[in-house]
Amino acid sequence: MKFFMDTANIEEIKRADSWGVVDGVTTNPTLIAREGRDFEATVKEICALMGNRPVSAEVVSTEADAMIAEARKLAKWADNVVVKIPMIKEGMKAVKVLSAEGIRTNVTLVFTAAQGLLAAKAGATYCSPFLGRLEDMATDAMGLVKQLAQIYSNYGYKTQIIVASARRPEHVVQTACWGAHVATVPFKVLDQMFGHPLTDRGLEAFLADWNKLQEELGKQ
Ligand code: E4P
Repeated sequence: MKFFMDTANIEEIKRADSWGVVDGVTTNPTLIAREGRDFEATVKEICALMGNRPVSAEVVSTEADAMIAEARKLAKWADNVVVKIPMIKEGMKAVKVLSAEGIRTNVTLVFTAAQGLLAAKAGATYCSPFLGRLEDMATDAMGLVKQLAQIYSNYGYKTQIIVASARRPEHVVQTACWGAHVATVPFKVLDQMFGHPLTDRGLEAFLADWNKLQEELGKQ
C-alpha cells in the first residue's frame, strides 16, 4: 500500500518523508488555504520535495471546459502534478478529455460505489473515497472501499483507490485488507501508525537488561 501525505504543510511533509514511508502528497483547496500561501508556489515546492512522486492539486472550476483549462495549467507546473477533479458530471467530462491527453487525475469527493465506478469509466488515474466524512454521518465507509476494490478488480480498471478523509490508523489497516492501493493520511494519523505502548515498554526493558549486563561484565 502506498502512503500519501494529506497536507500542504511543508514541515509536516519533510518530517514524514524523513521516516521513509511517503509515496506522494494530496492537497485540496482547504489544505492550501490553511497554509495561507500562494497556491502555485506551494504546489511547486511540494512537487520539488517529492521528486517524481505524485502530488495532487485541485481545480476550483465547476464547468468542464474551465476545469480542463485549469488542469492543463496545473499539469505544466511540474511533471508529478496529478489534477484533482470533483465527482460531478462536468468533472467526469473533464477527466475523460484529460485522461486522453495523458494528464493524470484524482477524482475527489467520492461517497458511493456508483460514483467510484463512474470515475473509473471516465479514465481517472485515482479515485478518492472519503471515509471520515461518511462516518461523520453515521454511514459505513469501509464497505465502500471493499465494493470499489471488488468492482475495479472485476472489470480490470487501472484506476487506483486512494483512501481519503482518513481519521485514524484503522481506516488504513482495514482498507489495506480490501486492497486499496493508496491511503492519504494527515500527519497525525501517520504518526499514530508508528506507535504502540508495548513497543515502548519492550524497548525500554531490552535496553535496561542490556545495560545491566554491560555493568555486570564491567565488574568482572
Ligand atoms: C484528500 O484527498 C481529501 O481532500 C482529504 O482527505 C479530505 O479530508 P477531510 O475529510 O479530513 O477534510
